[in-house]
Amino acid sequence: MNAQFFRDWLEYFQWNAEEPDTLPWQAREALSDAEIAAVGKSLATFQLGEKSEGTALRCFASRFAERNGIGEVAEITVLFVKEEQHHAHLLARFMEKHGLPVKTVDWTDSVFRIIRKPFGFEAAVTVLITAEIIGAVYYRALREATESRLLKAICTKILEDEKSHLEYESALLISMQAARGGWSRAAWRLGHRLLFAATVIVVFKEHVQVLRRGGYSFVHFFDACWGEFHRLFPSTIAELAPALGQACPR
Ligand SMILES: [Fe+2]
Ligand SMILES: [Fe+2]
Repeated sequence: MNAQFFRDWLEYFQWNAEEPDTLPWQAREALSDAEIAAVGKSLATFQLGEKSEGTALRCFASRFAERNGIGEVAEITVLFVKEEQHHAHLLARFMEKHGLPVKTVDWTDSVFRIIRKPFGFEAAVTVLITAEIIGAVYYRALREATESRLLKAICTKILEDEKSHLEYESALLISMQAARGGWSRAAWRLGHRLLFAATVIVVFKEHVQVLRRGGYSFVHFFDACWGEFHRLFPSTIAELAPALGQACPR
């Protein structure tokens, strides 16, 4: 593992935690009934998803950090979880301002919480990045779907943070997968693709109103999600090699 890679990312997360809130909270705006009907429940599901305590993830990261002598991984994970909770806080504050109810439970959120717990750090990050890649496309759609200047600005802020999450986690996963044998790596990658494909379908079905309002048909959404997936996880060995060299120079 490249120690400098983790030092750089720790520095980034520390810097980002200090970024001031410049969102237009004072904007005087009202949501139309049509927008509330299209966006309200969907937003509540994503707000719930952002709210995790990350207990299992932080625990896995600590063990991984200890095993590999990279303390930064544990610190990065703590800051990462705080960033996700900040996203939840921004969405909750917006929802409160507009009288939109939050959710305390949603079946898709529950499934993701369950499957990222039993199989260790690599599996937890795999499940996490699956949700985040699709979430990034969702927030782009939501930004187009809403008339609210504040919600558009919140989406932009979340997308900026998520861009970094995706870069960090994909490099981390690629370097972890590089330590596996060929068959094991191929099985992981197949499993990840199956999970990703299923999640794209479920998210489209569950959030169809926001996605359509944001200009995404199923084909467009499917393409956008897989385009992002393949950008982060190049599918041929030839494409993968430079990424591995960058993430894990030996
Ligand atoms: Fe987030
Ligand atoms: Fe994230």
